[in-house]
Amino acid sequence: MAKYPEIKVTELDPKSFIETKAKDISKNVGEGTAINALSGGVDSSCVTMLGHKALGNRLKTYFIDNGIMRKDEPQRIAAIFKEHGVKVEIIDAKEKFFAALKGITDPEEKREAITQTFYKDVFSKLVKDSKAKFLLQGTILTDIEETAAGIKRQHNVFEQLGIDPQEAFGYKIIEPLVELRKDGVRKLAEAVGLPKEIFERMPFPGPALAARVIGEVTPEKIETVRLATVIVEEELTITGAFQHMAILHNDKVTGMRNGKREFGYQIEVRSWDSVDARTAKPTRISYEILEKLASRLVTEVPGVVSVTYNITNKPPSTMEAI
Ligand code: XMP
Repeated sequence: MAKYPEIKVTELDPKSFIETKAKDISKNVGEGTAINALSGGVDSSCVTMLGHKALGNRLKTYFIDNGIMRKDEPQRIAAIFKEHGVKVEIIDAKEKFFAALKGITDPEEKREAITQTFYKDVFSKLVKDSKAKFLLQGTILTDIEETAAGIKRQHNVFEQLGIDPQEAFGYKIIEPLVELRKDGVRKLAEAVGLPKEIFERMPFPGPALAARVIGEVTPEKIETVRLATVIVEEELTITGAFQHMAILHNDKVTGMRNGKREFGYQIEVRSWDSVDARTAKPTRISYEILEKLASRLVTEVPGVVSVTYNITNKPPSTMEAI
């Protein structure tokens, strides 16, 4: 596999990195304008702050509400950035994404549907309307490597796949974080002035909760996994794990409630200890926590009758389910 240049977290001098990247962005964009999509993850948050530092109001930041984000996410993120002087416009694209996902069960096809809807349908319209020729994006080194290795098709890697974004979508992509891994980005996010809530945030995948629904993604299934996610995050944040998640299985199983048979959903909980997401081990969670988690999931999430905890390492597992 090709080697890509890397700046290790120990070698990273955040102040000079910020200055260099802000200058690069200014130089690239010139007198023009750029746009970016903020998801609220540490990568796109960092890029938003770098772009804002370089371009001020000439960077237009959108939060695309694809309907598959965590609970209240668009409003919460927009409010955080507002406090930092960055205006974020929320675009409601829920229906478009659910329409694109309808009937698809294959993991890579789901990712592809989300990518295409995001770039071709929603984002390219925003770019055209804004007349921006540049797009700032928070791709990191791990995204590129895993895409190049054919493990997963990350949503934000184009040039590495031989797709010319200028030709395909009409704009040029600037990726200031490609030399960093997640630990480096967190260090940078703190240095760029973002709050702890963002720089210590768990990673969250581009395909969002759709990466956590096995089989077809429907608004109902997303709502189920979204409710389960709230509970998992409330109960597992104290473990300090690198990442934890709720996954909704496709197959239903027989359960029983109030003396009656209930053919219901299975939620799989995963919690990972990891440094850079390349390898990971399941967190050794106490049975007390697991029991509370299971009891809340089966009582607070309608239709859930079974909860399991994943005990596999990455590899051979990956962290997300699709
Ligand atoms: P996997 O499942 O590949 O996940 O072991 C490794 C890390 O990457 C995140 N992830 C993604 N991030 N776009 C992203 O920006 C994606 O398509 C994507 N898929 C996985 C995942 O949450 C984990 O932290």
